Amino acid sequence: MLTHSEILTQLANRQKNHALTRDLYCDDGVFQSDLEHIWYKEWLFAIPACEIPKTGNYATMQIGAYPVVVVRGADGRVRAFHNVCRHRGQRLCSKANGTTTKLVCPYHQWTYELDGKLLYARDMGDDFDPSKYGLKPVHCIDMSGMVFICLAQIPPAIADLAKQLGAYLAPSGLADSKVAFSSTIIENGNWKLVIENNRECYHCGGSHPSLCRTYSDNPNMTAMEGPDSASPDILAHWKRCEEAGLPSRFVNHPRMQWRLARIPLLNNAESYTMSTKAAVSKRMGQMPFNDAGSLLFFHYPNSWNHFLGDHAIVFRILPISPTETQVTTNWLVHKDAVEGVDYNIEDLTRVWLNTNDEDRLVVEENQKGILSPAYEPGPYSMIQEEGVVQFIDWYSGTMVERLTPPPAMAAE
Ligand code: FES
Ligand SMILES: [Fe+2]
Repeated sequence: MLTHSEILTQLANRQKNHALTRDLYCDDGVFQSDLEHIWYKEWLFAIPACEIPKTGNYATMQIGAYPVVVVRGADGRVRAFHNVCRHRGQRLCSKANGTTTKLVCPYHQWTYELDGKLLYARDMGDDFDPSKYGLKPVHCIDMSGMVFICLAQIPPAIADLAKQLGAYLAPSGLADSKVAFSSTIIENGNWKLVIENNRECYHCGGSHPSLCRTYSDNPNMTAMEGPDSASPDILAHWKRCEEAGLPSRFVNHPRMQWRLARIPLLNNAESYTMSTKAAVSKRMGQMPFNDAGSLLFFHYPNSWNHFLGDHAIVFRILPISPTETQVTTNWLVHKDAVEGVDYNIEDLTRVWLNTNDEDRLVVEENQKGILSPAYEPGPYSMIQEEGVVQFIDWYSGTMVERLTPPPAMAAE
């Protein structure tokens, strides 16, 4: 198990524009360090808000060592708490999803309001002060229908992303959407391999026959330099969409922790379907046309998303072990769209269920190869894998910053 200083050395000595070392993908110490310095510090995508539309709806998730529950209160607000009872520490909610009027601990029935206040604890004596034993809050923000949480004491700034997401997601009307289908799979690969795989389409032609019907694997279609710099096809798409009121141009975090941009699909395809036509006859929100392409939104370390004219697909990854990652995909449609009338699940989900499974396979085979002592980091393609380089630079830069001791300590 690598120590902090060994991890720092491997990161500092890494070869630019090359994959990481075997340890950085496989080692237990690196995994713990990733949890501590990335997963417990950054904003993480938790759920689409429409997964818990009503008071008392909740969803749970496990972030490394931390069980978390996200719940909608009686006031309509979405809050997140450590899913740990303040009595003797029982996990409060064990199901992935549920609905409840109060959060009741299954062990001795301490009972919490949906806003975390302790309401009732039996036989705790007269000097017991329930106000001291509310659930511990986790930072939580509902950004235009995308709920993010942060385990850090002081979370990183998120106002700029909230503002941009507000503008870009407004036409998709996530407030008027519902979850049509949800899938959770485990990929036997390190979380960084899952993100790397997502950030390039070098593998798409060889792996994704159904996605390639509608999604171009030409790197120019996703390589954008800025709000006015992209291929002529993309610039034309941005112009058409923006004239119809859809914010579309590339915007990004200064260090590219996130990016928003709307891209056209292949040959005027309307949606990620086998037929290339819309899967849902009732469009999302105020989307003006079916062939608005896909609004791409990624946020490191754990989410990538597609917002189309007729539906949206939101992805969340969570690390389970050095070589296991949970991938949850939710398909969102207009809340009034009726299954069997306006859409059917098969057409809606086929392409991305296939794609997820194909990605699972390549990530698992990638992990198996990297576990070999014969593995050595190879070069990324600067034509095809710029997105991967950019992710690895973000990861390495962030880790080096956080693992480097402050100057006073370094001198000791
Ligand atoms: S541990 Fe929750 S009520 Fe006892
Ligand atoms: Fe893929």
